Amino acid sequence: MCNETSVKTQGHSKGMSNGDMTLFFRYMALYEENMLVPVRDTFSRVFLPQPWREKIDEENLRAWFRNMYNEKAPGLYEYILCRTSHTDRLLQEMLSNRPVSQIVILGAGFDSRAYRFDPIIKEKSIQVFELDLPGIQNLKIERLEQYLQDKGGMPSHVHFIPTDFNESNLLDSLLSHGYNQTKLTLFLWEGVTYYLLPEGVESTMAFIQKNSLTGSMLIFDYITRDFIEGNPKECYGAIECRNSMAENGQKFIFGIHREDLAGYLEKFGMSLLEHWTSEELGRRYLELKNGQMLGRVAGYMNYAFAEIL
Ligand SMILES: C[S@@+](CC[C@H](N)C(=O)[O-])C[C@H]1O[C@@H](n2cnc3c(N)ncnc32)[C@H](O)[C@@H]1O
Repeated sequence: MCNETSVKTQGHSKGMSNGDMTLFFRYMALYEENMLVPVRDTFSRVFLPQPWREKIDEENLRAWFRNMYNEKAPGLYEYILCRTSHTDRLLQEMLSNRPVSQIVILGAGFDSRAYRFDPIIKEKSIQVFELDLPGIQNLKIERLEQYLQDKGGMPSHVHFIPTDFNESNLLDSLLSHGYNQTKLTLFLWEGVTYYLLPEGVESTMAFIQKNSLTGSMLIFDYITRDFIEGNPKECYGAIECRNSMAENGQKFIFGIHREDLAGYLEKFGMSLLEHWTSEELGRRYLELKNGQMLGRVAGYMNYAFAEIL
C-alpha cells in the first residue's frame, strides 16, 4: 500500500513488502487496548520478524511509527484495522451460517485466518487455498514451519499456490491443488486489486464467475477511481499517499468509481451484498471504550462483499 515497499525507519533503512506492511499494522494493533472491537491477529507475532517486533514493542518507537504513517499515508493504519475486523466478522458469519467448503485467499500475504480460525475450519473440513507471488509465500511458509514444528506441523487443510494474477492460469493452479468447482467457496481478495492491471482484475473476476458454485462469495477492497485519475482532493489522506508513492516511483494501477461497482460486478455475474465506504467502516470499528475514535480512515478505500449468481 502507500509507500509500503520503501518505508525508511529510524536507524533502519531496510524496505518492507506490501504484505509486510499490513502485517506490521496488525502487530501494532495488538497494543490498541482501548478499542471496543479489538483487532487480535495473534499470528502477526509469528510472521513479523523479531527486529520489527522489538521496535513496535517499544512505546516511543511505536508512537514514532504512528506519527510517520499519519504523515505519509494518513488513515491507512486505521483502514487496515477496520478491514481486518470486518472480514473476520464476515468470515465467521459465513462459516457458521452457510455450507462453505473452500476458502480461496487471493494475494494472501500474511493473512492468518487459516490458522486463527483453525477450529471451525477443521470441524467443517474446509480446505483453504492461499495464492500469492512465490517470494512472499515462501517467506510465510518458512516462518510457519518454524513456529509449527513442535505443534503438529503444517496444517493439511492449507494449500499454498504460487501465482501471479497478471499471468497465471488460476484454474490449472487451483485444480492441481485440489480446488473443487462444485463446492461453495468464499474468496478473500483484500489489499490486492489496486496493484493489478485492469486485465488482471477482470480475468480474476471472470475466473471466479466461471469456476465457482452459485452462492459462492467474494470479499474484496478497491480504491476509488478518482485516486488513479489524479483527482483525490475529496478523499482524506489521498494527496499524502499519492505523493509518498510518487517519491518512491510507485502508483496504484486499478480503481473503480463507487457508483460503477454494482454494474461492474454484474458483468461478472455477481451481485453486491455489502458495500462500505472507509468512513462507514471507521464508524463501525474504530470506537474506543471512552467513546472517542481511534482515528480517521483513509477516504479512498472501499470494501465490497458480493455473491456469485
Ligand atoms: C497489501 S498485501 C495484502 C495481503 C493480505 N491479503 C492482507 O490483507 O494482509 C498485497 C498482497 O498481494 C500480493 N500480490 C500483489 N500483486 C500480485 C500478483 N500480481 N499476483 C499475486 N499476488 C500479488 C502481494 O504479494 C501481497 O501479498
